[in-house]
Amino acid sequence: MAKNNKPALGIIGAGKLGVTLTRLALKAGYTVYIAGSGVASKIELSTKVITPGAVAVTAKEAARRADIVILALPLGKYRTLPVDALHGKLVIDAMNYWWEIDGEDEALKNPASSTSELVQAFLPGSRVVKALSHMGYHHLHDEARPKDTPGRKAIAIAGNRVADTVTVAELVNDLGFDPVIIGNLASGKKLEPGNPAFGANVDAATLKTYL
Ligand SMILES: NC(=O)c1ccc[n+]([C@@H]2O[C@H](COP(=O)([O-])OP(=O)(O)OC[C@H]3O[C@@H](n4cnc5c(N)ncnc54)[C@H](OP(=O)(O)O)[C@@H]3O)[C@@H](O)[C@H]2O)c1
Repeated sequence: MAKNNKPALGIIGAGKLGVTLTRLALKAGYTVYIAGSGVASKIELSTKVITPGAVAVTAKEAARRADIVILALPLGKYRTLPVDALHGKLVIDAMNYWWEIDGEDEALKNPASSTSELVQAFLPGSRVVKALSHMGYHHLHDEARPKDTPGRKAIAIAGNRVADTVTVAELVNDLGFDPVIIGNLASGKKLEPGNPAFGANVDAATLKTYL
């Protein structure tokens, strides 16, 4: 636990999504450890300027120091994740298969399961929940609102353990969105590219009609 009794967050991926989530989390009072693909010094200056208050670290360090780790790196790179450091952690998979970035990867393009189940299989000691994946970063940035604001936008959450989805729902609420828990990790497939919920920037009632 870090400040305000809120879990410390690790964000692996310091790009468009990672930076946007870092900003929202800092605003909500979370401690944030953010990492890119390399050494911490590579992102130290940008972190200081763009997300002051966040701590630039390596991916392994983000995993070790955080209670909840958000995966905001290209899905095609998930096999580089620090498996041991993520052991025992609640891991939020915000990644999508996007061929322009991830290349023509058959295992990711047509997986037998949801892509989050592939990530879960790679991280057997972690508890993976899919969330924060379907809304574009610019909408995440622009649409965050306090709880009970009329028309507040919603974020879908899929996970195998109810307690973990509830924890993620609290985080989603703190970041400025209504959480919608949709079921187990397999149901996260409904949030992947090509499905109606992918890209959704709508309120909870509308989001549920897409699922
Ligand atoms: N953009 C969106 O609106 C959005 C919304 C929802 C979900 N997503 C998902 O979020 C993920 C990131 O998207 P993005 O748009 O933020 O991409 P991006 O702007 O290209 O940023 C990717 C980040 O991941 C880092 N990275 C690359 N390989 C890594 C590795 N092996 N270990 C740790 N970090 C690594 C990159 O660091 P380096 O610069 O050091 O390579 C960079 O900081 C994707 O899976 C995407 O589908 C994106």
